[in-house]
Amino acid sequence: MQFDNSLSFGQQLDKADPLKDFRNRFIIPSINSKEQIYFLGNSLGLQPKKAKEELNKILDQWGQYGVEGFFKGDQPWIDYHDQLTEPLAEIVGALPHEISVMNQLTVNLHLMMVSFYQPKGKRNKIICEAKAFPSDQYMFETHVKHYGLNPDEIIIEVHPRKNEHTIRLEDILQTIEQHRDELALVFWGGVNYYSGQLFDMKTISFAAQEAGAKVGFDLAHAAGNVPLELHNWNIDFACWCSYKYLNAGPGAVGAVYIHERYHNDTGIPRYAGWWGYDKATRFKMEKGFKPIPTAEGWQLSTPSFLSLALQKASLKIFEEAGWKNILVKQKLLNKYLWFLLDGINSGFSKKIIEIITPRKEEERGCQVSLLMTERGKEIFDALSKAGVMADWREPNVIRIAPVALYNTYEEVWHFANILKGIISSQS
Ligand SMILES: Cc1ncc(COP(=O)(O)O)c(C=O)c1O
Repeated sequence: MQFDNSLSFGQQLDKADPLKDFRNRFIIPSINSKEQIYFLGNSLGLQPKKAKEELNKILDQWGQYGVEGFFKGDQPWIDYHDQLTEPLAEIVGALPHEISVMNQLTVNLHLMMVSFYQPKGKRNKIICEAKAFPSDQYMFETHVKHYGLNPDEIIIEVHPRKNEHTIRLEDILQTIEQHRDELALVFWGGVNYYSGQLFDMKTISFAAQEAGAKVGFDLAHAAGNVPLELHNWNIDFACWCSYKYLNAGPGAVGAVYIHERYHNDTGIPRYAGWWGYDKATRFKMEKGFKPIPTAEGWQLSTPSFLSLALQKASLKIFEEAGWKNILVKQKLLNKYLWFLLDGINSGFSKKIIEIITPRKEEERGCQVSLLMTERGKEIFDALSKAGVMADWREPNVIRIAPVALYNTYEEVWHFANILKGIISSQS
C-alpha cells in the first residue's frame, strides 16, 4: 500500500478498517474531557467495557450460592478457567490442553524452571538474552544458586554487537553451537521489552533442542502482539502475563504453555498443589500427588475467579474480532507508524529519533522504541502534556505500541504530528 502523510489518508484507513467498531468495546482514558492517544498496549491494555459485567457475574454467583458457586450457577467456578484456554490457544498457537491459566508471570517462570532447568554434570549452562527483563535475570540466578552453582559461570548472555541495539540471530545460533555440549536451557523473551525486537523463536527452539537443551520463552511482550506457533515450533514451555496486549487488567492472572509431551511424565520435577491434582479424585484429599495429565497439572492454588472474569471479558473481544484479523491490522497500523516516523526524521537536518526496533517486519510487533538522541525526557513530557500516553525507559527511550483493537490510524497520524511539532519547537 502506498501511504501518504495527510490526515485525510489516516482517516480513510480508519473508514476502511473492518475492526474499527471494536474501539467502542473499551474505555478510553481522557484528560480534560479529551480522549488520550493511548499507545501503551505494551504496558497495560485498556479496560473492556464488559469487564465489570463479567466481574459482577462472579460476585452475584458468590452472593447467591456462597461456596456452592463452585458447582452451581451459569458458570460454576470449578472449571471456569476452561473458557479461557481455547481463545488463548489460538493466540499463542498451542493445543488447548497445553495451556494453563494460573498465577502471575514471575511465579510461573519459577515454576517452569523447577520443571525444565535440570543441570546435570557439565550440562548446566543457560543461554539467554543480555538485558532480559529483571524478573527473568533474578529467576536464572535463583535456580542456578539453588543447585549450588555460580551464576557468573552458568548464565551465558548474548549481547547486541558494538553500536547495535538488537541481537543478531546468527550470534544466538553461534552461541548455542559453541556451548552445545554443556547446555541445559535456552531461555529467551519472545519480544524484547526495551527494543521491541521480535526473535525468531522457531529457529532458536530447533537449534536449542538439536543441541540437547530445553527451550522456553517469556512471552510477556509477545502474547496478543505477534503471531505465535508454540506447539509447531516444538517449544518446551512458555509463560506470559495478560495485562499488556491481552487487556485483562492490572496484575491479571497469567498463563503457561507446556508442550503435551510432558503431560504424562509423572517423573518431571514440579511444585505440586491440590488444584493440579487429578480432577476426578481431587476431593478425596488423599496422599501422593497425582497430576492432571495436561498443563493444568502444574496448577497450585484455587484461582482468583475475579481475575479470570476480567480476562474472559477481554478474550471474548479477541474471539469476536478474530485473531488473524487483529494481526493484519496490527501490521498495517505499525507500517503506517514507521512511514510517518521516517517522514519526521527526514524533515530535520539532524537525526533526533533513532528507531532501535528492527526495521524488518518479521522482527517487530506493535512496539516501536524511539531512542531520542537529545532532549528525550523533555520531548516525552511534552508528549504526555499533549495527551499522548507513551512510556519512558531510562536513559533515553520512548516506547509506543498502538494496537489493533482500540487504536486508530488517525491517532497514529496525530501522534506523529504532535511529535514533529514538539521537535520543531525545541530545535
Ligand atoms: C518481559 C517481562 N517479564 C516478566 C515481567 C514480570 O511480570 P509480573 O510482574 O507479572 O510477574 C514483565 C513485566 O512487565 C515483563 O515485561
